[in-house]
Amino acid sequence: MQSAECKMNNVRVMAARATHFALCTLQSALCIVVCLSADDTVAEDAPPKLVGSASCATAACHGGLAGHKFVGSEFPIWSARDPHSRAYSVLENDLSRQMAALLNLPKPAHESAVCLNCHSPATSVESKLTSISGRTPLAGVDCEQCHGPAERWLTEHVRSDWKLRSAADKQRRGYRDLTDVLTRANACADCHVGGPGRDVNHDLIAAGHPRLFFELSTFHANWPKHWPAEVDAKRHPAVEKGSVFEAKLWTVGQTVAAQRSLELLSQRAELAKVTPARWPELAEWNCFACHHDLRSASWWQSKDAAKRPRGSFAWNAWPYAMLDPLARRVVGSENSIPQSELTKLRSRFESPVLPADAISREAIAIAQGLRSAAERFNRNDAAKDVLSAKSLAAMRLAFVTDDGLNLVNRDWDSATQLFLSLNALQHAIVASTQTDPEQDRQIQAVLDSMNETLNFQPGLRSPRDFAAQPIERLQADLQRLRKLLSPP
Ligand code: HEC
Ligand code: HEC
Ligand code: HEC
Ligand code: HEC
Repeated sequence: MQSAECKMNNVRVMAARATHFALCTLQSALCIVVCLSADDTVAEDAPPKLVGSASCATAACHGGLAGHKFVGSEFPIWSARDPHSRAYSVLENDLSRQMAALLNLPKPAHESAVCLNCHSPATSVESKLTSISGRTPLAGVDCEQCHGPAERWLTEHVRSDWKLRSAADKQRRGYRDLTDVLTRANACADCHVGGPGRDVNHDLIAAGHPRLFFELSTFHANWPKHWPAEVDAKRHPAVEKGSVFEAKLWTVGQTVAAQRSLELLSQRAELAKVTPARWPELAEWNCFACHHDLRSASWWQSKDAAKRPRGSFAWNAWPYAMLDPLARRVVGSENSIPQSELTKLRSRFESPVLPADAISREAIAIAQGLRSAAERFNRNDAAKDVLSAKSLAAMRLAFVTDDGLNLVNRDWDSATQLFLSLNALQHAIVASTQTDPEQDRQIQAVLDSMNETLNFQPGLRSPRDFAAQPIERLQADLQRLRKLLSPP
């Protein structure tokens, strides 16, 4: 029997198929024109232009006639299942209309660069026309947003020697080599953390935008993919057995998210020089520094107070929560996570008066260190120490002992990052070594219990209520994990 949801999906797939057949007939001819008109020489002065992903959707290319589950079917998968294909249409929904009104945008959300920059390939209505084919790109976060503007690689990538070319050569043409985990993490961070021209700040959040909280392993796991997962695993073989792909996703993802958040912080501080009224940026603090009930016995007033003066503000913990625990487990001279600088920057956020200049400088310096840390985690020789199953298991044990207790005592953001990290490490360990299925089942049961306690909410996606109880439940779960993981 078919469930209602299943039927709905079929309808959506059929609609996508109909759209794609229409596109095929319409675009096949255009595809050829585009291919022929694209310039073969690599001019490096001007940034490469968008071609418009409609040309990827033709039957012979990625439009789904190859008769394979993935290969050649990337467009219908994206169109029917990937949330990115809806990213433009949500700009026309009620929430977006409300946001545009509250933000006093001169144009509707779906015509405003502040929204389009992350939700569509068109940075403005006018720029839609700058794609070299002169056609409107596919709506939503489309192929070229991740794989790179195709002006200089469209004709090249269908040639038989394309797969043999070096990543550097492809990159010169504007193609992003997403098989590389570091490149992939940075591609997602462009929109899921933010950057120049892309900022989900407190203005947008207060107008109704969901708060952005990115964790690469989690988002990657929840994202319907248009290529087979085995390919990722095969490209990142582990020393002993299996794959270090999952381990890289977590270590590289955590470091890149923190690095890019610091770069965004610096960008916000630099903006303060031009428009002082925009500083300090409220989204840099823990949301509950301001938004919490006037009562005692809350998570907010928890044991973390031992380190933070009473009545002080707290820095937004989300992007940085796992850096200290991670740094402690990564030994050796190449550990470039600048812990003491990070502690110093964190303490600056205890006061509501933030020196923009100093903060911008310090944030960039730490980001630089994190960039080298991410590069190191991305190298295959990192597998020997950081990414090996043995090292991951040691890290996990620390995370359910003191490191973990500190995090669950601190705040929801830190506790949730801990939970997501334990989840990611569990997957990474299972992927890279032989494990006991019964023990894995028990670990999963505790992780599910943590998930339930942490209770993501739509929109704000953190529980509104900060009673003492969740901390105790999480502490008990950590203790159960400790028992399961400790050597007898
Ligand atoms: C920095 C990039 C960025 C900018 C700028 C941005 N968004 Fe978003 N938006 C996102 C991401 C990423 C999500 C998904 C959040 C998640 O689930 O973690 C999202 C989610 C949304 C959602 C919820 C979609 C859903 O399926 O529930 C709406 C609505 C939305 N954005 C509207 C807007 C509007 C309107 C603007 C401009 C005022 C805007 N966005 C600006 C990145 C951005
Ligand atoms: C949100 C980012 C994102 C979007 C949007 C996206 N892709 Fe991908 N795509 C990836 C990643 C990551 C991979 C896996 C790495 C790889 O194989 O290059 C991938 C893999 C692929 C592959 C397999 C490449 C190989 O080396 O085997 C093809 C083909 C592809 N994508 C085509 C498309 C097409 C066509 C679209 C638009 C309909 C699209 N992608 C949209 C991120 C994206
Ligand atoms: C050009 C901007 C952009 C890029 C690049 C991008 N995303 Fe997104 N992503 C969005 C927006 C906008 C949404 C919200 C779509 C919606 O719900 O309408 C989103 C939604 C998602 C969601 C669904 C989130 C939820 O709450 O359900 C996942 C998962 C996701 N993205 C993963 C990724 C991954 C993994 C990458 C990198 C390979 C990536 N994205 C790259 C803009 C982007
Ligand atoms: C430094 C204090 C401060 C911090 C930190 C802060 N906010 Fe706010 N927030 C405010 C103020 C002030 C308003 C405006 C209230 C009004 O308009 O009356 C507001 C308004 C809002 C609103 C609109 C609804 C409402 O209650 O007025 C939302 C939603 C919101 N903030 C979410 C967040 C989130 C999510 C974070 C963390 C990323 C955050 N805030 C961090 C001070 C803060």
